[in-house]
Parts: sequence; structure tokens; C-alpha cells
Amino acid sequence: MMDILKIMAKILEWYRSMMMQVQKWTAPKRMQIIHAFVVAEVLFSLTTVVLVLFVPTNIRLFVLLFAVGKKLGVLSAGMLCLTLVPGIIRRFGILPELRVFLMMFRRHFGILTYLFAVAHSLLTYWLPALRFGFTPILTFQLLGMIALGFGTPLFITSNDFSVRVLQKWWDHVHSLVYLMLFFAALHTLFTSPTTGILLMAVVVLEVISYLVQYSHGHTVPRG
Ligand code: HEM
Repeated sequence: MMDILKIMAKILEWYRSMMMQVQKWTAPKRMQIIHAFVVAEVLFSLTTVVLVLFVPTNIRLFVLLFAVGKKLGVLSAGMLCLTLVPGIIRRFGILPELRVFLMMFRRHFGILTYLFAVAHSLLTYWLPALRFGFTPILTFQLLGMIALGFGTPLFITSNDFSVRVLQKWWDHVHSLVYLMLFFAALHTLFTSPTTGILLMAVVVLEVISYLVQYSHGHTVPRG
């Protein structure tokens, strides 16, 4: 028992010193990192547009793009988790250092969630459909489309202008992320059980963290 406590204390000490190092490095470079995110987002969107405009005809390229599209689905799911972790750990009242770090870039994790999901659906569904013809939409595809639908207002309002204009409504709009998560989890359970279970675990953690927050009878500012 004592050994386990000692190991836990060591892990906590290691985590704190690592987070301090990470923050010492990232805090002064915050703006540069954010600019790098914006450049990556623009380049990624342009590449996606080019792929759609010049629907590839080469079958090998098609197979490759389908495989890339699947990976983008996993990346989108990962980004969605990163966007949601700060809220969960805030409600549990744990790991404040990690929260501060993730909050610096949360908007861009959210934007990437959407851009990756759009590219994912283009490469795995729309491009094949345009090339080989449309087939009836399957349940798991519909669930993915619903998730993407809920993500659209989040993507459009992920900027300072919308925060200023929408004020308290911004929080309400961004609560749609929970519906996006739920439908993305259902969609993914059909296609990749590992990622699906991960997303469902996040759904469960969201629910438990809200229960913990309300059982403590306090409301911590959103974040
Ligand atoms: C937030 C939205 C979405 C997320 C997070 C997401 C995530 C994923 C993940 C993780 C996979 C499994 C990839 C793998 O097996 O490695 C997948 C598969 C797939 N998704 Fe999505 N997806 C989303 C939206 C969509 C949409 C809108 C469509 C369009 C209909 C779509 C169509 C597909 C297809 C066709 C597959 C591949 C099925 C196969 O293996 O043949 N997804 N998605």
C-alpha cells in the first residue's frame, strides 16, 4: 500500500514538473503556435478543396485517399477528445496544469475536429459516391452526418467576433458539442470499435463530471 502511494506521489511530481516545463516553453510562444495552427488549417482546407475539385480518377489513388480519409476520422475523434478534456477535468477539480495548457489551444483543437471530419467524410463517402455513383445512405453514415451537422455551428462560431456578438448565447451554441460527441461516438462504434469505445468513455466521463459538479453544489465558470 505504501509502495503504491509512493509511486503515485512520484507520478504526480513527474507530471507537475513536466507540465511546468511544457508551459515554460509554450507560454511565450503562444501566439506563434496559434499562427502555426491557422496556417495548418488554411493549408489543410485548400488541399481538401483541390481534392474535391479534381476528383481523382486513378483507382490506386482512390484506395489511398480512402485509407487517408479513415485516418482523418480517427484524428477528428482525437481532436474532439482534446477539446472536451479541459471541461471534464475542471468539473472533477483535477489536473489544473493540464487544463491551463489545453485551454490555450482549445479553439484550434475544435476547428481541426471539424476540418478533419469534413475531409474524412469527403474522402470516405462523397468522393467515392461522386466517382462510382450514390448508394442509399447507411445508418452509420447518417450518424456521422448528424455529428458533422451539430459541429457546423460550432465551427462557424469559433472566433472572437462570434464570442462578442453571441455573448451568453455562445455557451448555449457550444453545448451542441455534447450532441456532436454522442453522434460521433455512435457512428464510430459501427466502424472502429476501439475509437468508438474511447468516444463513449468520454460521453460517460462528461455525464459523471457534471454529476460530480452538481453534487458539490457549485458551478465553476465554463471552460
Ligand atoms: C465528427 C464526425 C465524424 C467522426 C469523428 C468520424 C470518425 C470516424 C472514425 C474514427 C472512423 C473509423 C476509421 C477507421 O476504421 O480507421 C470512421 C469511419 C467512417 N466514416 Fe466517419 N466520422 C465522422 C463523420 C462522418 C461523416 C459525415 C461521414 C459521411 C458519410 C463518415 C463516413 C465514414 C465512412 C464511410 C467510414 C469508413 C467505413 C469503412 O471502414 O469502410 N464519417 N469515421
